[in-house]
Amino acid sequence: MRAEVRVPLILVNFKTYREATGERGLRLARVAEEVTGRTGVCVAVAPQIVDLRWIAESVRVPVFAQHIDPVGYGKYTGHVLPEAVRETGAAGTLLNHSERRLVRSADPSRRKLELEVLRAAVRRAWEVGLKPVVCVDTVDLGRVVASFEPYAVAIEPPELIGTGIPVSKARPEVVSGAVEAVKGVNAGVKVLCGAGITSGEDVSAALRLGAEGVLVASGVVKAEDPLRRLLELASAAKAHIPDP
Ligand code: G3P
Repeated sequence: MRAEVRVPLILVNFKTYREATGERGLRLARVAEEVTGRTGVCVAVAPQIVDLRWIAESVRVPVFAQHIDPVGYGKYTGHVLPEAVRETGAAGTLLNHSERRLVRSADPSRRKLELEVLRAAVRRAWEVGLKPVVCVDTVDLGRVVASFEPYAVAIEPPELIGTGIPVSKARPEVVSGAVEAVKGVNAGVKVLCGAGITSGEDVSAALRLGAEGVLVASGVVKAEDPLRRLLELASAAKAHIPDP
């Protein structure tokens, strides 16, 4: 049975980091499972596509793809088929990550087409039962994407990615702006933030700004002690869960 995705959510993106590839990725997913067990906070992982199935089959945490393409069965060599991702046991997918952008052009007519591709990818994800988490680099794009009704919008200023400078402290207005913009369009769409998150305090700051979780990579994947780091992040998130 697939593990449930809930907020506050800590979503760990494995990218193509060596520390999170193959066996090491599975080990890191087990760390996520342990942290969920110890804190009750939902910690999800986004491994590389080739590691999805065995991680999804081995570990009881929600597993996300890093990308899907809005294609169907057929003549689409090299594309990532949503149905195939769902069959691995994945619970969701990232879309439009800064490092795998679907929307990249400034030219209005090209951008319009790219937005339609992104909208189609969101639709395909839901169709096959994957929760789409769409990454955006600006509040304005977040507002547009919210109207596509993804599971979540994740705001990530690209210049802070991998720097250890947390978006929630360095650019708080971007996080609160994204929350306001997304919720203004559709209150049901969750808002995550990411880039530079490394400490419990960064997570608390994000949740205080109205985010419902964080997207994190290097702060966990490259930590000397990922278990300790992830426990710190999840414990900070837990402190924001209202008493029943
Ligand atoms: O997807 C998460 C991401 O892009 C943020 O990366 O290394 O700054 O946590 P990082």
